[in-house]
Amino acid sequence: MKSMKPSSKIGLSEFDGRRRELMALMEPDSIAVLPGSQVQYRTQGVQYRFRQDSDFHYLTGFDEPGAVLVLIPEREYGEVILFCREREDDLERWHGSVTGPERAMQLYGMDDAFPVEDIDDILPGLIEGRARLYYAMGTYSDFDSRVISWLNSIPRNNRSGIEPPGELIQLGPFLHELRLFKSGGEIDILRTAAEISAKAHMEVMNLLSPGMMEYELEAALLYQFTLNGAGSAAYPSIVGGGANACVYHYIDNNQTLVDGDLVLIDAGSEYEYYASDVTRTLPVNGQFNPVQASLYKIVLNAQLAAIHQVKPGNHWNQPHEAAVYEITRGLVELGLLEGNVQRLVENGAYKPFYMHRTGHWLGLDVHDVGEYRIDGEWRVFEQGMVCSIEPGIYIPENAEHVPVEFRGIGIRIEDNVLITGNGNSVLTAGIPKTIEEIEQAMAL
Ligand code: GLY
Ligand code: MN
Ligand code: MN
Repeated sequence: MKSMKPSSKIGLSEFDGRRRELMALMEPDSIAVLPGSQVQYRTQGVQYRFRQDSDFHYLTGFDEPGAVLVLIPEREYGEVILFCREREDDLERWHGSVTGPERAMQLYGMDDAFPVEDIDDILPGLIEGRARLYYAMGTYSDFDSRVISWLNSIPRNNRSGIEPPGELIQLGPFLHELRLFKSGGEIDILRTAAEISAKAHMEVMNLLSPGMMEYELEAALLYQFTLNGAGSAAYPSIVGGGANACVYHYIDNNQTLVDGDLVLIDAGSEYEYYASDVTRTLPVNGQFNPVQASLYKIVLNAQLAAIHQVKPGNHWNQPHEAAVYEITRGLVELGLLEGNVQRLVENGAYKPFYMHRTGHWLGLDVHDVGEYRIDGEWRVFEQGMVCSIEPGIYIPENAEHVPVEFRGIGIRIEDNVLITGNGNSVLTAGIPKTIEEIEQAMAL
């Protein structure tokens, strides 16, 4: 079980501030209900390590299963209410310390806290008479049914004015807008996550040699993550040798790494709940051959051009447009596409080689929350946002329209980028990335 106290880099006052900000966005006469994660089972009787729901963690720092947060702005007897497990010797013997409602108030700054076993008796009374319920319907279907049963249990009495809320409002958009902008404390944690990933990728450059299994590199990555205090990878590591790199979500990691191939490694640590997301593509024998180098340079150009577009005032699609242009231009120069570059971009001629987008928001979730468009227009970058930039070129073995020497090659380069006041800061800078840097790192 996780430690009882909130994370040290995000203090109680920051969690409290987030709840206040969210409550300030809520309409008058409303209530918000937010369930945390439940224990999940991997196999019969065997639990996964607990990982709190990101929204719930963001608002509470309370990382125990089965809790429910209730926010009732302007409520005289307390606005912030937590339902959580009670302390029980037996439970604690098996799973470690439980905070319990009494200590939750003090340690987590709750106005009130109750045993979650009593929620059916207490919550309908808190909901009744409120005009609006903020709730993320559709996220946890079991909890959806409970919310509906609580609403149904509220008596309708027109004379006394008691009735269930007439309006259900999706909580997500309000909360996710807050999560999109990272505080100083969050940026510190994201930097640490990025640094741990950097160490892991550099260790892999050190170890890699022909004949190793893909999972040996995965093991080295996980070892470095764990050794450096990240409890987990932020997502299953991708270690794809040769043509496996063309399978976008390849996680089997069970093949031998072959002399003369490239290996694509997409792996990032999760540190104190915040993700990093890093890809490097390396020559298994330490040297890019000319064909691999020609494709690698295009992806690197595209990635640098995309990162250059990540700055306040530019919009979300500008990095993607820059990457697509550079990839198309490079493929024309190599003779893999023919025609006018601008026209090929407009026709999407690059799509057989580059089928995904150039990035995503990054934070508590790897593919973090936050809108990419506002009122149909691409969102403009602002200070405090963090995203990945990850263009690639993938040429599967069955790409018959492509000369044979280019087939079976997949290359992606991915970094994590913070938008600053006047530009950006690459959180994962320092991990060898140019051909020269990688070959030098691997020669050591
Ligand atoms: N590792 C998943 C991604 O790059 O988005
Ligand atoms: Mn990735
Ligand atoms: Mn990514």
